[in-house]
Amino acid sequence: MDTSGAQSPRPDELLFFVNGQKIVERNADPETTLLTYLRRKLGLTGTKLGCAEGGCGACTVMLSRYQTHTEQLLHYAVNACLAPLCSLHLVAVTTVEGIGSVAKKLHPVQERIARAHGSQCGFCTPGIVMSMYALLRNNPTPKMADVEEAFQGNLCRCTGYRPILEGYKTFTVEGGCCGGRGRDNGCCMANGSGAERSSEEVVDEATSLFNAADFAPFDPTQEVIFPPELMSLTKGQRSASLCFHGDRATWLQPNSLDEFLRLKWKHPDARVVVGNTEVGIEVKFKSMVYPVILAPAFMPELNAVRRSEDGVVFGAACTLSHMGAVLRQEVETLPPHQTQVFLAVLEQLRWFAGLQIRNVAAVGGNIMTASPISDLNPVFMATGCKLTLMDKDGSRVVRMDDTFFTGYRRTVVRPQEILVSIEIPYSQKTQFVSAFKQSPRREDDISTVTAAMSVTFTPGTDVVEDLRLSYGGMAATTTMATRTAETLLGRRWGEELLQDACSSLAQEMTLDPSAPGGMVTYRRTLSLSLFYKFYLTVLQKLRDQGVKADEVRADCLSAADVYHAETPSSVQVYQAVPEGRVQDDVVGRPMMHLSALKQATGEAVYCDDVPLYENELYLSLVTSTRAHANILSIDTSAAEQLPGVVCCVFAADIPGSNATGAVQYDETVLADRQVTCVGHIIGAVVADTQLHAQRAAKAVRIQYEELQPLVTIQEAIAAQSFYQPIRTLQSGDLEAGFKQADHVLEGEMHMGGQEHFYLETNVSLAVPRGEDGEIELFVSTQSAAKTQSLVAKALGVPANRVVVRVKRMGGGFGGKETRTTVLSTVVAVAANKLKRPVRCMLDRDEDMLVTGGRHPFYGKYKVGFLNSGKVVALDVSYYSNAGNSMDLSLSIMERALFHMENSYSVANVRGRGFMCRTNLPSNTAFRGFGGPQGMMIAESWITDVAQSLGRPAEEVRRLNLYVEGESTPYTQILTQFTLDRCWDECLSRSGYQQRRAAVNIYNSQNRWTKRGLAIVPTKFGISFTALFLNQAGALVHIYTDGSVLLTHGGTEMGQGLHTKMIQVASRVLGIPCSKIHISETSTNTVPNTSPTAASASSDLNGAAVQNACEILVKRLEPYKTKSPKGSWEDWVRAAYFDRVNLSANGFYKTPDLGYDFVSNSGRAFNYFTYGVACSEVEVDCLTGAHKNLSTTIVMDVGHSLNPAIDIGQVEGGFMQGLGLFTLEELHYSPQGVLLTRGPGSYKIPAFGDIPTQLTVSLLRDAPNDKAIFASKAVGEPPLFLASANFYAIKDAIAAARLESGISGPFRLDSPASSERIRNACSDRFTKLCPPAEPSSFVPWSVQV
Ligand SMILES: Cc1cc2nc3c(=O)[nH]c(=O)nc-3n(C[C@H](O)[C@H](O)[C@H](O)COP(=O)(O)OP(=O)(O)OC[C@H]3O[C@@H](n4cnc5c(N)ncnc54)[C@H](O)[C@@H]3O)c2cc1C
Ligand code: FES
Ligand code: FES
Repeated sequence: MDTSGAQSPRPDELLFFVNGQKIVERNADPETTLLTYLRRKLGLTGTKLGCAEGGCGACTVMLSRYQTHTEQLLHYAVNACLAPLCSLHLVAVTTVEGIGSVAKKLHPVQERIARAHGSQCGFCTPGIVMSMYALLRNNPTPKMADVEEAFQGNLCRCTGYRPILEGYKTFTVEGGCCGGRGRDNGCCMANGSGAERSSEEVVDEATSLFNAADFAPFDPTQEVIFPPELMSLTKGQRSASLCFHGDRATWLQPNSLDEFLRLKWKHPDARVVVGNTEVGIEVKFKSMVYPVILAPAFMPELNAVRRSEDGVVFGAACTLSHMGAVLRQEVETLPPHQTQVFLAVLEQLRWFAGLQIRNVAAVGGNIMTASPISDLNPVFMATGCKLTLMDKDGSRVVRMDDTFFTGYRRTVVRPQEILVSIEIPYSQKTQFVSAFKQSPRREDDISTVTAAMSVTFTPGTDVVEDLRLSYGGMAATTTMATRTAETLLGRRWGEELLQDACSSLAQEMTLDPSAPGGMVTYRRTLSLSLFYKFYLTVLQKLRDQGVKADEVRADCLSAADVYHAETPSSVQVYQAVPEGRVQDDVVGRPMMHLSALKQATGEAVYCDDVPLYENELYLSLVTSTRAHANILSIDTSAAEQLPGVVCCVFAADIPGSNATGAVQYDETVLADRQVTCVGHIIGAVVADTQLHAQRAAKAVRIQYEELQPLVTIQEAIAAQSFYQPIRTLQSGDLEAGFKQADHVLEGEMHMGGQEHFYLETNVSLAVPRGEDGEIELFVSTQSAAKTQSLVAKALGVPANRVVVRVKRMGGGFGGKETRTTVLSTVVAVAANKLKRPVRCMLDRDEDMLVTGGRHPFYGKYKVGFLNSGKVVALDVSYYSNAGNSMDLSLSIMERALFHMENSYSVANVRGRGFMCRTNLPSNTAFRGFGGPQGMMIAESWITDVAQSLGRPAEEVRRLNLYVEGESTPYTQILTQFTLDRCWDECLSRSGYQQRRAAVNIYNSQNRWTKRGLAIVPTKFGISFTALFLNQAGALVHIYTDGSVLLTHGGTEMGQGLHTKMIQVASRVLGIPCSKIHISETSTNTVPNTSPTAASASSDLNGAAVQNACEILVKRLEPYKTKSPKGSWEDWVRAAYFDRVNLSANGFYKTPDLGYDFVSNSGRAFNYFTYGVACSEVEVDCLTGAHKNLSTTIVMDVGHSLNPAIDIGQVEGGFMQGLGLFTLEELHYSPQGVLLTRGPGSYKIPAFGDIPTQLTVSLLRDAPNDKAIFASKAVGEPPLFLASANFYAIKDAIAAARLESGISGPFRLDSPASSERIRNACSDRFTKLCPPAEPSSFVPWSVQV
């Protein structure tokens, strides 16, 4: 790398700029991504790695390029994880570090996300900042819709997105931003009139978590300019031919079409790379090696756009963003009848990936990849787009019809040919075109089924002249329903045609029941339902044109509506601190997360951002590909030959004990004889770089003797494969209860697991200290102490030789409580073996494969109730899929049992908990820790009770709610009970009764879209259920300059614990927060810490901090008394010179705890956190898609320590719950292989999933006498409230089923995915696609 001199680049020189600095790279490796280069070579670690597959946006940077043929300067956001380094010739890269810093000056984009509380763990923040920055570079006065579009490719797992949008609204037209134009007359931000919201009437009720007037003004004229040198090198010049050689690949960038054709002739197997959004995935995840890469991205011939007689011709390298912009322009200027095809393409582009992908992905790449689920190919096929293909001997034009795709990912294009352009035709006067995409998540998701349909009528009639129906997701290629189309030619567009079309499609669009991707019944039904939507749309358009056609029934109109996202709006309400409280006392104020600004600038250091040690090595895991097998042999010979490999590590390298585990030592650090799940860690390869280690790990050959695996709960039940003990929690007299009941009802429900999807995957860095067996570990873990003890055990050294340090995590959510040790122990063993620092950050797919997630649960219940709806008896059995080790499964099952009645008083109850031992990776803690599973089944039976009685569910819920002083089944009396207050406030804030009336009207007026409403309570017990964990320590040092270093046992994973702890210390010490610093959590400062979990960390550590600070205050008291007018610094200095110990240890243990299952006595919890949510949804019964219309949450968090952080927890927890209950699905093969291993296939909620209206209110006047400063724990309790959306969906489905004459209770498993919703809305289309007999085929995936 050369960063000096301004010379013309040579063909083997890559010249580009990063944050204004010129870089000339002579050894550019075609397989290196921009992200790796930034992080590893330039040390710019602000840009994060979240997935490496373009699916999370954590790696977003902005590229700027001068486009010669259009003479335009382009700025666009891209995913650095997919951008090949070699593609950056003459490009300027801007990273988060390049736009501002805490040290120098923050960019408003950085400042506003932080101050609006839009950064919790912060790992997603730089990517979001850069998406917003790129938007503003192109459009300084965006609308909210532009902002939402800019974030389609960004994920955040912590915040729930609302605060990010709220903060960035201040840049928008809606938020009142003038885009800097008002600077001279006073910028809207500068004069404080920006997006500040009005405050409520109630004096101490606050509704604003930040003040936009505090924001620095945004001045778009002050942005960094495009490097003049790049401009002069690019302007008026064709780009030169380039050639870069790497270890395994050569990158050839032709400078003319001729050269490109010659190269393709010479290298017919060469990959053409434009956006690299397909090829990049193949190289990274499918281990493909492409020795020759041809890069024509910037060639004018392949980027040209021109109008022809028949349509618009796009060069094959045109990006999808550019194509979209051109088509939008055409739609604005041409008569509407000519632009039907364009509109269909635009409809598909709306939901095509995220903006970062669309900014680089080419239309040619989409066609040539020939994916069966391409979103554009169905449109191109249904409308007969024409492709121009060329080789060095000439060109030919082919039409995209049913002969174009010749097999899975194959086309008629010959190897020596390239695609030059595509012509998208104008539509005809009597032609109608529609396109549809159905995917699990609306934004940035691959299709389940995608379709495009075109019909042309004999002019002036409704007689079909031409019909083309094209589907993706229904075969190995994009396919056309030609038989169906043929039978409909010459027919009238009416009910009869519809019926015949559906019957014919049901015959023609068949799928093997074992088809990859699963959801076979759903996909088949969709092919019919989408046609029906098309049918209605066309019918309506015919009538609009005055053609005599059948009338569309008024209640069917909404079925044809095109989805339009509405900009979300929100309200947050909390109790303001009493007037007159001193400004420095920040307890109760919405103080910003103390790392937020650093997180927004990329300066916050995460584990993998720790600079490389000089002799550091990288480790990659060798994991089992079998769910249950004996290991016969391990062959490392091929791996050891590969470049960079230093050694392999197996069980024999463990100097201490190979036995490990969170509670019981029932796991191995490295499997030696047997593997019990896919992803079981067998060994590791250590090499000089990540790439070398990963390649070598894949080359390790293992022979297995396969054993029968148990994968599902049902299989485990059949085999009676349970961990012991089987817990029972019982109270009252069950038999008498059932006798007393007027009705007895039985039911069951399965609730799927959940992947934590912390944006930062597991990462460990182990550094041997060279003497006495000392080793230091930097780990992203919630449990430093557990890491320390298990590493010490594996290394065979006392714990006092192991130091574990945790600065911050990029999210944890329980996933980093125990499962982090599976990686950190291996890394420590390798470092110990080599006596060199060793690092490993798991790739997203490895992390998902290896570390387990939330336990799937199956619940079976029998419930007895009176005619009034009062539940009098409950017998429930829970089965959890614990996986291949015990981990925390027992405590999780116990918590499920403790929450089996949720918030309902049931006099006679028995709950039993079975932990299934299966061959899945061990499942583990996840926010809620079994509580959500326990309560979800409770909400199922209470819904069944209401449905079987035909009573409104909210009445039955209210009737059964606990009241103050009642006892839980585990004999805990409910005191300071606020749930009834939460319920009433939620009812009134949500306008429940009016909503219910409106929902009923809506449902009576709409056949194919239904609305549903549900209000759901939660009562969450606070304390670790393992008694000994309810303790915490703190260590506080005061230095002689008055600064305070605070350490406590909790870790910071984004939840704002450190911020709260500083608030506590600040109040007790009576000094401003600015004097207090937390550096990290470490085992050598506060020992034997409990994991940061169970929502209890603020309570426990807060009390320990308080204890330590009170000790110090007492020690300083004499000096304060002596000099009352003196400053803090004066008293500290005086005490120091008086030889007073300015360091104190704090400790706390929760009093009066200790429940015993055998005797059903003792207190299980210190107290309860309560909340209620009311949600309204709208379901599209034809596709199963749903919209979250509104959610109102009322949460009792006591006297909030920090309302901004607490509301952040409520919203973030709620959104995670929304994922759990309505979206996120882990698919496992019947052989136990996890099929969903990244954001491409596993969908967490995105920006577009926020309820359109979101109200969060913290219950006022509800002090809690059991925790620090009358506060309450908040981390886990809100998650369950998202079940209100699930039950609102169920309510809507019930309304749909009524249309088909079906009433009464029905089973709906969680998550309420679009597949489940569609299948449950039984109707004429589902009847045409009956499911195959389950025993007749092997499904693609099984419910585990
Ligand atoms: C996160 C993510 C989300 C995605 N979402 C969607 C989605 O919603 N819908 C969808 O349909 N797809 C989606 N894709 C797939 C992909 O983005 C598209 O297929 C895209 O259009 C590919 O374009 P590209 O320029 O990046 O292709 P590249 O990876 O650069 O190339 C793809 C293939 O096309 C060939 N090729 C490219 N240009 C030519 C040419 N001119 N002549 C001959 N061969 C050529 C290459 O040889 C290569 O085999 C997604 C991908 C990612 C990573
Ligand atoms: S790391 Fe690039 S998109 Fe996830
Ligand atoms: S703050 Fe967005 S992922 Fe943590």
